[in-house]
Amino acid sequence: MYRTNNCGELNSSFVDQEVKLSGWVNKIRTKGFIIWIDLRDRYGVTQLVFDKERTDASVFEAANNLGREFVIEIDGTVIKRKDVNQNISTGEIEVLVSNLKILNTSITPPFTIENQTDGGDELRMKFRYLDLRREPIKENLIFRNKLSLEVRNYLSDNGFLDIETPYLIKSTPEGARDFVVPSRMHPDQYYALPQSPQIFKQLIMIGGLDKYYQIVKCFRDEDLRADRQPEFTQIDCEMSFVSESDVLEQFEGLILHLLKKFGKTVKAFPKLTYKDAIENYGTDKPDLRFDMKINEITDNVKGKDFNIFDKAEYIGCLVLNDKAELSRKEIDELTEWVKRPQVGANGILWIKNNADGSIKSSFDKFFTSDDLTSLTKDIGSKSGDLILIMAGTKKETLEHLGTLRVEIGKRYDFINFDLFCPAWVTDFPLFEYDEEEKKFKSMHHPFTSPNKESLGHLDSDPEKVIANAYDLVLNGNEIGGGSIRIHDYNTQMKIFEILGMSKKEYESQFGFLIEALKYGAPPHGGIAFGLDRLAAVLNNKDVIRDFIAFPKNNSGKDLMIDAPAKLTKEQLKDMKEE
Ligand code: AMO
Repeated sequence: MYRTNNCGELNSSFVDQEVKLSGWVNKIRTKGFIIWIDLRDRYGVTQLVFDKERTDASVFEAANNLGREFVIEIDGTVIKRKDVNQNISTGEIEVLVSNLKILNTSITPPFTIENQTDGGDELRMKFRYLDLRREPIKENLIFRNKLSLEVRNYLSDNGFLDIETPYLIKSTPEGARDFVVPSRMHPDQYYALPQSPQIFKQLIMIGGLDKYYQIVKCFRDEDLRADRQPEFTQIDCEMSFVSESDVLEQFEGLILHLLKKFGKTVKAFPKLTYKDAIENYGTDKPDLRFDMKINEITDNVKGKDFNIFDKAEYIGCLVLNDKAELSRKEIDELTEWVKRPQVGANGILWIKNNADGSIKSSFDKFFTSDDLTSLTKDIGSKSGDLILIMAGTKKETLEHLGTLRVEIGKRYDFINFDLFCPAWVTDFPLFEYDEEEKKFKSMHHPFTSPNKESLGHLDSDPEKVIANAYDLVLNGNEIGGGSIRIHDYNTQMKIFEILGMSKKEYESQFGFLIEALKYGAPPHGGIAFGLDRLAAVLNNKDVIRDFIAFPKNNSGKDLMIDAPAKLTKEQLKDMKEE
């Protein structure tokens, strides 16, 4: 037996008890006759004390030779601590050690195993097993476990069946590149790893299983960001005989269940159309923790001989309540921030609707103070407000204002970080036109059904067709996306054609699905949530990496196992021969 108790459970009710503990040496402090050691395991930290007067000399000597991250087993008596440590659950006690056994030694770790470590990201990833010993990462993984358990409970209670789908498959189009796996038995032939189980879950519906879910790995070869990993986990769901509102209701239930279970404050669960989201927030994943909306002022400001406005397709602004006192330096900093290539805006114009009633702008040469006053009235700005303006093409300017809005929210404390604001974004366009490739692309994926009311545009103006698709956004993050699927053979073929696929192409890629649609496919739809993202966002974090036990770095490498790597000659030969 290695332990009678763990390192997180002892408190004053254990005083005078003999205990045996095992764990890692977290910290050593020596003061001549006394050695204190923080012993750590998954459950917490317990302070051990070796006292030259009360501890056997050989045990004291052994304690003196311990190093950080040694694995030890000790016997001892729980005693009351003189200086209580309020920060930890075991802070009232310490264990006076009578016996010490070294279970394993450790070389000096390359970074400190502390909440605030001195290790950089890359180093921590190379030694991920050491990083896992740190409290924040461990807590993230414990949270993730609770989250998936709650998801399973909710979905299982609601009649969803957990069904596994294969990983060695043929391409599923989700907009990224596939990771491919060569086949040894079929030279020059490749499997693709699933970007999602999309087609399989639809086939499960055609198979009559009615309600499916899976917590499943997906693989996408795409550019990485803080909220993207090349392999990530989806909570993937599909239901039969449902309309869009049925799906939204079911999964609103899931999200509210999770937010409640994790003690989060939710104000509302609004439904916004894609168009409204873009026009009001400049993004299809609006952060609704603060109200600031974009105001369009194109018609208000044109015709004053100010070239920037006169030549712009669109002019919009943000009203920052009570920020008129922001200095020129601060506005200049924001301007530099939006001019960075990551944002790519031309700049920011401003109006200060000063608290003393005066009004000033960065384009005073062209606007009288009456012009400015009437403009501020039109957009409902009060004195004390700062108005930040951007002009350009509609699409880009809205996008830049959306990015600026979020930055302002963070920089000037407009965001209430205690709030959780989920929302549905609906009525996405079915297609978007790819200027580079000169063809239409699916905004979600090609199996998404067009909205009945807009079907008339399918032949004449595909860009006007609205999809039965929806995204779940939470605090400015896209957490999930889904749609009602096409269950009709002819519509599916038509969509493939609009996407510029020849019959030969779509039959070779999706022949099995097209065939299956001929055998009585039920109306069906579903959604997939990003589990890693959901875990991060529920903890107010942007980076999903720390919610994944063994993540990849920004260039898709696993620094610990050094993957990807070259194959051996033998492996390569195997691929070619056979
Ligand atoms: P979609 O591509 O929108 O939909 O993916 C669903 C959700 O998965 C998460 N996600 C990611 N998380 C981490 N890293 C990535 N690289 C990554 N890519 C996506 C996001 C996203 O909202 N088959 C459809 C779903 C459906 O139609 O039912 C699909 O995969 O949170």
